[in-house]
Amino acid sequence: MNCDQAICISENQNGLAEMAAETFVSDALQSVRQRGIFSVALSGGSTPRGMHRLLIEDPWRARIPWSRTHIFWVDERCVPQENPASNYGAAKRDFVDELPVSHNQIHFISCETSPSVVAGIYQDRLRAFFALPDRSFPRFDLIFLGLGTDGHTASLFPGSSVLAEKEQLVVATRGGDPYEDRISMTLPLLNRARHVVFLVSGREKSEVLQSVLTEPTIQYPAQAIRPSDGKLTWLLDREAASLLPEAFKHG
Ligand code: 6PG
Repeated sequence: MNCDQAICISENQNGLAEMAAETFVSDALQSVRQRGIFSVALSGGSTPRGMHRLLIEDPWRARIPWSRTHIFWVDERCVPQENPASNYGAAKRDFVDELPVSHNQIHFISCETSPSVVAGIYQDRLRAFFALPDRSFPRFDLIFLGLGTDGHTASLFPGSSVLAEKEQLVVATRGGDPYEDRISMTLPLLNRARHVVFLVSGREKSEVLQSVLTEPTIQYPAQAIRPSDGKLTWLLDREAASLLPEAFKHG
């Protein structure tokens, strides 16, 4: 199932995973056609794992230009990769280890020293990859985000001082469940993407999603995701979308 509207709603989690995988494929093909490379950043949590597992299955696997694809992470919890809370660790087990790519195409965050140093190392890696002069922001082709029941996205939590960050690409912060030191891309970096896609599933997200999509004032970090020169897409399943006004349910 393809999604060419701002909001697309699937019947269930499998349908959501398939919409997300289809988006990954179409953005990858378009990016490589236009620029010869595809840069994508993935979020952690449970929602995207269905999509991740589809990426190593056909028809999706065979259609993705893997040799031109570079995978980054939006955020990471500072725990060992073996820990189930590790975003990269989960992705590695779910699909990365099966990909026909070289190690220099997989840009994970490794919390091997203090979080602030790790954030600086990852930021330098982003700057080097995109060959950026200092103080400018790279444009990812595609960024997948999730939505917490508290309205957080990435590792940008309500009330956190890092929400006000305007200069850095990456910050060290703390929060979440489990409550951990975390590394996260910042709002200005996320908002530079060509395409930001939220994946939201389950009834437990229906209230916060209704607020995020209908409240005029910004109360949640997820509401601050407004790509300055890019597209914003919400891929939802029916349960998560159950409280949205009818008008939202037709794109
Ligand atoms: C993280 C994620 C986070 C996630 C939301 C939703 O590392 O915690 O990046 O922002 O996307 O918490 O998580 P679920 O998909 O598990 O509900």
